[in-house]
Amino acid sequence: MIARVLVTGANGMLASDLINHLASQPGYEIVGLARQQMDITRRHEVAEALTRIKPNYVIHTAAQTNVDYCETHINEAFQINGYGTENVAFYAERVGAKLVYISSCGLFGDKVTSYAEYDPVVLKTVYARSKYFGEEKTREWSERYFIVRPGWLFGGGKTHPKNFVYNRYKEALSCPVMYSTSDKFGCPTYTRHLAKKIVSLLQTEYYGTYHITNSGSASRFDYVKKIIDEFGVKTTLLPVDSNRFKRAAPVPDCEILDNMFLSMSGLSLLPDWREAIDEYIQRLKRDM
Ligand SMILES: NC(=O)c1ccc[n+]([C@@H]2O[C@H](COP(=O)([O-])OP(=O)(O)OC[C@H]3O[C@@H](n4cnc5c(N)ncnc54)[C@H](OP(=O)(O)O)[C@@H]3O)[C@@H](O)[C@H]2O)c1
Repeated sequence: MIARVLVTGANGMLASDLINHLASQPGYEIVGLARQQMDITRRHEVAEALTRIKPNYVIHTAAQTNVDYCETHINEAFQINGYGTENVAFYAERVGAKLVYISSCGLFGDKVTSYAEYDPVVLKTVYARSKYFGEEKTREWSERYFIVRPGWLFGGGKTHPKNFVYNRYKEALSCPVMYSTSDKFGCPTYTRHLAKKIVSLLQTEYYGTYHITNSGSASRFDYVKKIIDEFGVKTTLLPVDSNRFKRAAPVPDCEILDNMFLSMSGLSLLPDWREAIDEYIQRLKRDM
């Protein structure tokens, strides 16, 4: 039997790897809808698309993902990440689809250890508040949902404007000295690894909220250093305090997630983030 999967925000970084991964698997028909085809803030567009497509699964990746932009565009952040998610959750439920809502690792605070799924949220930014509001709407409307909180995402094609890994490589080529913060911590996470895990999770009935990241953790400095070393670019990378970079959003110090429910569900954890960077950079080098 063929399962129909609808992916929202289809031009995004995670969405493109999800669509590629699903296309390589037997038994799936994929419908990726970009903003131009279904703007999630327009209730009638979501109603029309889901009723027409009748998906078995909806993977909802669409979001306003610019954390600093959200800080000064509060209504827009809540319209897309909150009410847009409500529209998707409502109509997914109405057509009987299982729903995956991609949330965020930025829902916590500043303790530099890690956060598990049971930890209370500490919503420091507008982006975090709007994504958590999206979680609340998912829980309110959907019976069969997976809320997935990923780590710091990297992946997708090198022309994607948000390609963190490739952008650091380009910066390293042109800058003899680079700076990166050593006081912000998270779990770099490869979209291709995450995509595979989401598809495995979909096949279960283990509904609920999951932290899903590559294993291990890093400071931004460790992350950028690994990228530069792997590309073999000769530049000097210096660790700096985050105060050096003025940002509109007060992002938390710690976005390290403990993947407790994933291991409790008997699903394997993702590989170490350094291995994931190696794999992704090899993929980029093949395309260069
Ligand atoms: N990137 C990270 O490090 C990270 C970390 C944790 C969680 N996440 C979450 O993971 C998901 C995927 O992230 P990503 O980095 O792959 O995002 P992305 O590349 O920024 O893609 C998001 C997509 O959503 C689309 N979109 C925005 N507003 C929309 C609307 N009103 N209707 C329909 N589509 C809309 C965007 O389209 P336009 O290009 O037209 O704006 C874009 O293609 C997001 O939910 C994000 O919050 C990301």
